[in-house]
Amino acid sequence: MTKIVILTGAGISAESGLGTFRDKDGLWTKYDLDDVATPEGFARNPDLVHDFYNARRKNCHEASPNAAHHALAKLESEFDGDVLIVTQNVDDLHERAGSRAVWHMHGQLMRARCSACDHHWDAPLEMHAHAPCPACAENTTRPDIVWFGEFPFYMDQIWDALRAADLFVSVGTSGNVYPAAAFVQDAARAGADTLELNLEPSLGAHDFANTRQGPATQIVPTWVDEMLSA
Ligand code: APR
Repeated sequence: MTKIVILTGAGISAESGLGTFRDKDGLWTKYDLDDVATPEGFARNPDLVHDFYNARRKNCHEASPNAAHHALAKLESEFDGDVLIVTQNVDDLHERAGSRAVWHMHGQLMRARCSACDHHWDAPLEMHAHAPCPACAENTTRPDIVWFGEFPFYMDQIWDALRAADLFVSVGTSGNVYPAAAFVQDAARAGADTLELNLEPSLGAHDFANTRQGPATQIVPTWVDEMLSA
């Protein structure tokens, strides 16, 4: 059976109303990522960081999965056990669309973590600085997000999955951030076919055997329908 690894980025959630990072009006045009997406920024001003993620958590809570999320969930249900989503996104729209095999390499907005005992739990919609950890009671809670300078989650399992993939598909990512931006090369080296589905060619488009441009809510369902009728 075809093993498919799908990397997703902010572009797949754009049509659900969640901002991307580097497009016009993207999050990094409004916030300094050093202030809100680094351990140093959190140490300097935890209230600012919690405000940033509380606003994103509220947007995510009010958003809905779009046709692209639902199409990937349909693909997984038809190719049972052979579709893995590796997402750079911290929203929970893949899960709310019905996808089950979803690895959040940059963490999850709806989760919290304790820096002292590494306990993880479902975050309240509003998190505040110095809230006690429910497990160890230390005031060391933080958003369960991987910040710049920190190592992404699931990396060993992701590299194993890329080596075993027959097809690697990238959806809605600009190819700006590593290691995700190199996944296409890892997969191609291992013999996988590669496809990019994005609004415009990403920085790594030249590494893909095939690319298609357009809004994810159009080109992802079209691709999934082709996969299911093949
Ligand atoms: N349909 C498809 N693609 C889209 C759409 C859409 N409706 N809207 C935007 N895109 C594409 C853009 O063309 C761009 O290539 O999505 C991509 C978004 O790129 P970024 O904003 O850089 O987001 P992403 O690639 O996910 O960023 C990677 O950077 O800041 C870190 O941790 C953060 O996970 C994030 C990582």
